[in-house]
Amino acid sequence: MTLFKTGEVDRAFWSGKRVFLTGHTGFKGGWISLWLSSMGARVTGYALAPNTTPNFYEVAGIDGVIEESHISDIRNLDHLREAMTAANPEIVIHMAAQPLVRYSYINPVETYATNVMGTVHLLECVRGLESVRATVVVTTDKCYENKEWVWGYRENEPMGGYDPYSNSKGCAELVTAAYRQSYFSDALYPKHQHALASARAGNVIGGGDWSEDRLIPDALKAFESGAPLVIRNPLATRPWQHVLEPLSGYLVLAQALYQEGIGFASAWNFGPRDEDARPVKEVVNLLIEKSPPGAKWEQDQSEQPHEARSLKLDCSKADLLLGWKPKWSLETAVQNIADWQKTFLSKGDMKAISLKQIEAYQATH
Ligand SMILES: NC(=O)c1ccc[n+]([C@@H]2O[C@H](COP(=O)([O-])OP(=O)(O)OC[C@H]3O[C@@H](n4cnc5c(N)ncnc54)[C@H](O)[C@@H]3O)[C@@H](O)[C@H]2O)c1
Repeated sequence: MTLFKTGEVDRAFWSGKRVFLTGHTGFKGGWISLWLSSMGARVTGYALAPNTTPNFYEVAGIDGVIEESHISDIRNLDHLREAMTAANPEIVIHMAAQPLVRYSYINPVETYATNVMGTVHLLECVRGLESVRATVVVTTDKCYENKEWVWGYRENEPMGGYDPYSNSKGCAELVTAAYRQSYFSDALYPKHQHALASARAGNVIGGGDWSEDRLIPDALKAFESGAPLVIRNPLATRPWQHVLEPLSGYLVLAQALYQEGIGFASAWNFGPRDEDARPVKEVVNLLIEKSPPGAKWEQDQSEQPHEARSLKLDCSKADLLLGWKPKWSLETAVQNIADWQKTFLSKGDMKAISLKQIEAYQATH
């Protein structure tokens, strides 16, 4: 396999590329839509309407930067096929999902239908389209069988997942592997010319996330109202990373799949530096330093459903073969969140500050 050592998002590569993106109305999907459009990519989005008010999609004006937006359900195979056929994409990035652990305990059927059958539907549509050269399926660090050990998980370790969300993402990984072996294999590459990969990232933080039940949105909400942030597991360690980190990994991976082909068609970890897998309380303390006086946290004493205590990704494969490395420390990530939030609260131009942060990220070496 050729080593694809650029490690950087290549603006010239993306200019004019037709990209089909699921989940464009979400937090990560909104940021990647803006990034892709700023490089001249022609993005068609497919997702449900945003489910929070406010939301990144509206606040950053994503509808105005992408070529087409389909507000539709990934569980509807016919709608998805129609939208994807019309877009005639060269590259597909699949992010649409029910992404919340605690919600998945209450709604397991919806979680599996969206995350597992949604992935089957997506790959089934890709299978019927000759235009697609590269597909990236986005899953999560939680797809691994969690052994609660101190080492990072490698891409060849077994899939698992304790709760319905994590497990549905492990299943989405297995679905992706089965489609790759059955329809997009190495042996048949000269015929199908399509490279399919999956990407596993850590706990993503950044400006513009208003999801329920996530640390940064909960913290910002609490600090603005003057109430203490209530934390469930202050000592739980997570691989924290700014949203632009995994997004750059997905983009670099798509470039390699498109330009180099089948040798890159496998699973990839895009996690933070080792030193940024830190306990929840450290992240909150960093945010408190950048927040108005009076911001504080306390521990939730009530009984909680199971959540992994420790989770880390080994990213040496992405480093060695893609030349991809995390760029921003946790401190830089938190500073960018604080700047974004300050602009939002002062009714600033959210598209402009988001683009400025994307540019600053690209300029970091
Ligand atoms: N945010 C994180 O910390 C994190 C970490 C690891 C992996 N991920 C993964 O990244 C992806 C994006 O996550 P996010 O944080 O942006 O989540 P989000 O909730 O902000 O966005 C989810 C997107 O999926 C769409 N969606 C959900 N159900 C759908 C359906 N039935 N049909 C069509 N679209 C549907 C939503 O409309 C939205 O656009 C997900 O696959 C998630 O599992 C997120």
